[in-house]
Amino acid sequence: MRVLIVGCGYVGLPLGKVLARQGHEVFGLRRSALAAAELKAAGIVPLHADITQPATLAQLPRNFDWVVNCTASGGGGAADYRKIYLEGNSNLLAWLAEAPPQKFVYTSSTSVYAQNDGSIVTEQSVTAPDAETSKVLVETEKLLLAAANGSRRESLGQKFPAVILRVAGIYGPGRGHSFKSFLRGDARIEGDGTRWLNMIHRDDLIGVIIAALENAQAGEIFNAADNAPVTKRNFFEWLAAELKRPMPPTVPADPETGHRRGVTNKRVSNTKLRAELKYEFQFPDFRAGYAAEIARLKQDGGLDF
Ligand SMILES: NC(=O)c1ccc[n+]([C@@H]2O[C@H](COP(=O)([O-])OP(=O)(O)OC[C@H]3O[C@@H](n4cnc5c(N)ncnc54)[C@H](OP(=O)(O)O)[C@@H]3O)[C@@H](O)[C@H]2O)c1
Repeated sequence: MRVLIVGCGYVGLPLGKVLARQGHEVFGLRRSALAAAELKAAGIVPLHADITQPATLAQLPRNFDWVVNCTASGGGGAADYRKIYLEGNSNLLAWLAEAPPQKFVYTSSTSVYAQNDGSIVTEQSVTAPDAETSKVLVETEKLLLAAANGSRRESLGQKFPAVILRVAGIYGPGRGHSFKSFLRGDARIEGDGTRWLNMIHRDDLIGVIIAALENAQAGEIFNAADNAPVTKRNFFEWLAAELKRPMPPTVPADPETGHRRGVTNKRVSNTKLRAELKYEFQFPDFRAGYAAEIARLKQDGGLDF
């Protein structure tokens, strides 16, 4: 297949490497030319454009069979989200309209679910987030779903083959927010620590994206999280035992801060992903993934402090 990866970063670059190794013709898009050598070394043809600038897209090659959009805003507020996710996807839809791919996979986020009662959320659950940034992600999903069922005004009845992955917290080599704060010694357990964390190892996300490219139906949504959500307390207890370090201190939970930052408490179900895409996790839970990361860090001397 001729594949375009839009956003060749932490996930996109190794995804491209795997696809190239599988024999696909892979193109990788970034804004800057700085990583061109890294992309080439991974077997990816580097392309440069900014998805927020349609004129830069117009100069790119076309006729891709598969397109993956895994650009990220790199933090930022709702205005940044609107530019990169909503306008970015809208610009990609317009640009791809002339030569639509067979499949378009977009990496959304489990932050579209605002559930805060520890309940299990499936793809059918309500998506009514408090955080302005997450509201933009919901809007972006709606845009792509409307394109997938041909109901966008601009689509003239054409169905665009968009598939949405709602991705949990990504961790893997060199990544993992709570893990890094544990290592730095500035992690805290808020309240009783029973808030659930949902994660996915980068290499599993790559596998899930490929499974979606190969087998997902247009217009479908899949949660992309591993098999076992874990409470924050249990997460740190495991790390503390594994690394023989003290547990982080407990601090009172501040509901106001939580509300403002869109902190949620839910267990993201991956049942649909496993049943319909038949995806088998390489790292079924955080223990498997972090055991591998800890072994890697030990070998590199990354834990010697
Ligand atoms: N991190 C998480 O836990 C998490 C959770 C849920 C969902 N996600 C989603 O997962 C996906 C993959 O994330 P990641 O960690 O791989 O992100 P990342 O490492 O930040 O990579 C993002 C890539 O997008 C490119 N990019 C940014 N703005 C662009 C623009 N305007 N035009 C073209 N390219 C642009 C960046 O390249 P340049 O800077 O060189 O342009 C970079 O290569 C993202 O869609 C993210 O929203 C992440």
